[in-house]
Amino acid sequence: MTTLLERDDGLRIVRVLTPEDAEPYRTSFAGAYQDIFSGAPYFERFWASEALGILDGFLRVPDHVTLLAVKGETRVVAFGIGVPMVARPDIARELRGLVPIRESFYLAELGVQDGWRGKGLGRQLVDLRIASIDQNRYSHVLLRTVASRRGAYDMYRSLDFEDMGVYMEVPSRRVDGTVTTDRRLFLSRVLPGR
Ligand SMILES: CC(C)(COP(=O)(O)OP(=O)(O)OC[C@H]1O[C@@H](n2cnc3c(N)ncnc32)[C@H](O)[C@@H]1OP(=O)(O)O)[C@@H](O)C(=O)NCCC(=O)NCCS
Repeated sequence: MTTLLERDDGLRIVRVLTPEDAEPYRTSFAGAYQDIFSGAPYFERFWASEALGILDGFLRVPDHVTLLAVKGETRVVAFGIGVPMVARPDIARELRGLVPIRESFYLAELGVQDGWRGKGLGRQLVDLRIASIDQNRYSHVLLRTVASRRGAYDMYRSLDFEDMGVYMEVPSRRVDGTVTTDRRLFLSRVLPGR
């Protein structure tokens, strides 16, 4: 595990590499994941076991970039996770022909706990993930966000991501118990790298 940044407000942004690194944070990560996605704009319901399964899945992907913003010893208040696009065939299928899949990195998860928003953490977790990518191997960074073009969309646009004009309907279980789809939009950024 590496500490990438210590913020003035006492939060540490750490990069976890292995399941052993992640062990002290697992329970808190699951709670943060459930809280964040149960609110706007997604209103999704995840069980703690699902959130843990998602974390474990990312930790198994070669070259994953998993960042946690931690308060005190183990309290996770935000996370940002990215993986090579080849690890996400469901996403690659939508973008084949538009970007070089093997040279693309996918920013898969970003969440900041409600009380910690608006303090630059979201931006930092995007910047630090991009800085952690091997730019000799990856030329494009991609992500998917809610299509309503407010909030996260504006943040990514201000971080030089371009709207690809490609949409995807994503099914999820919602907090009201229904399973519905919502529309997500892809954004991309070319890395200066090579
Ligand atoms: C989107 C999210 C990660 C932003 O985190 P954050 O720590 O508040 O972001 P920052 O403080 O770095 O803010 C980045 C910029 O985006 C803007 N912004 C972020 N979220 C916003 C929102 N919901 N509505 C309006 N503006 C928003 C901020 O005003 C800020 O702009 P500024 O720097 O010009 O003032 C956070 O709101 C979140 O976790 N939302 C729920 C989950 C989600 O949508 N994840 C993204 C999935 S792709």
